[in-house]
Amino acid sequence: TDYKTITFEQKGRVALVTLNRPDALNALNAEVMQEVVDCFAAIDRNKDIAVSVLTGAGRAFAAGADIKEMQPQSFSDMYVEDYFAGWDRFAASRKPVIAAVNGFALGGGCELAMMCDLIIASDKAKFGQPEIKLGVTPGMGGSIRLTKAVGKAKAMDLVLTGRMIDGTEADRIGLVSRVVPHDTLMEVALAAAEEIAAFSVPSLMAAKEMVARALELPTTEGVKFERRLFQGLFGTADQKEGMSAFSEKRPAKFEDK
Ligand code: HXC
Repeated sequence: TDYKTITFEQKGRVALVTLNRPDALNALNAEVMQEVVDCFAAIDRNKDIAVSVLTGAGRAFAAGADIKEMQPQSFSDMYVEDYFAGWDRFAASRKPVIAAVNGFALGGGCELAMMCDLIIASDKAKFGQPEIKLGVTPGMGGSIRLTKAVGKAKAMDLVLTGRMIDGTEADRIGLVSRVVPHDTLMEVALAAAEEIAAFSVPSLMAAKEMVARALELPTTEGVKFERRLFQGLFGTADQKEGMSAFSEKRPAKFEDK
């Protein structure tokens, strides 16, 4: 937990991770990427944590990949080092992650939010893929995740013009899960996290995995994948507990087993 560019807090079964380079609007440089990757790997290993919330300090969630760090890079630097590959490891996190988008989520910042499972946006949030203005394009999955989230019409509009949209418009087009008044953002995000954290980790992981696979698989294969995971959960003690608790009209006490 000795991070320089992020902060990590644990509140019961909820982790709160905050991108913390506010002077650079939380621009995502190599150090931020490494710390986020390490932190979420540790969260996946930590048996006391069920879900996390990712947010940004100051007036940005993240204003993109660090332009000053990228500016001098050559094709071979980017290609051979696969400069952004760490983010694929973050995207492969197995426990649910809620993005609490408090301000600018631009370029890599918007792409990072889209790697999360729920996006809860402040009405003051600003989303966009402005890379076109820098002579490049999205490079952390934005073209595919944005298109899958909002469809071609809106994705082309955002990627080709680089324009920003606010949290309310992002909600209307289906980019975010919920939009809330700015001052209530963290309260709502942490309450959603606590609601999720009450459930059994094996079922949360399975639910996350099957919805993520839904975007990759043809329907018949997706349904089969879902069925196998669903059937597998009948091997857990928490399935017995959840269903017994229902019959006995009492709250379930899950043990992540
Ligand atoms: C490095 C950044 C940065 C970034 C902001 N800063 N965004 N530094 N990389 N992406 C720094 C500024 O240089 C400035 O530092 C400080 O943060 C405050 O920003 P200002 O521009 O002064 O603030 P403001 O005028 O309010 O404008 C806010 C803004 C603007 C509209 C968000 O900062 C902006 O347009 N940022 C870039 C957004 C962007 O293009 N993102 C996409 C990046 S490319 P100083 O030292 O001057 O105070 C990308 C590619 C991802 O993400 C895919 C992989 C290829």
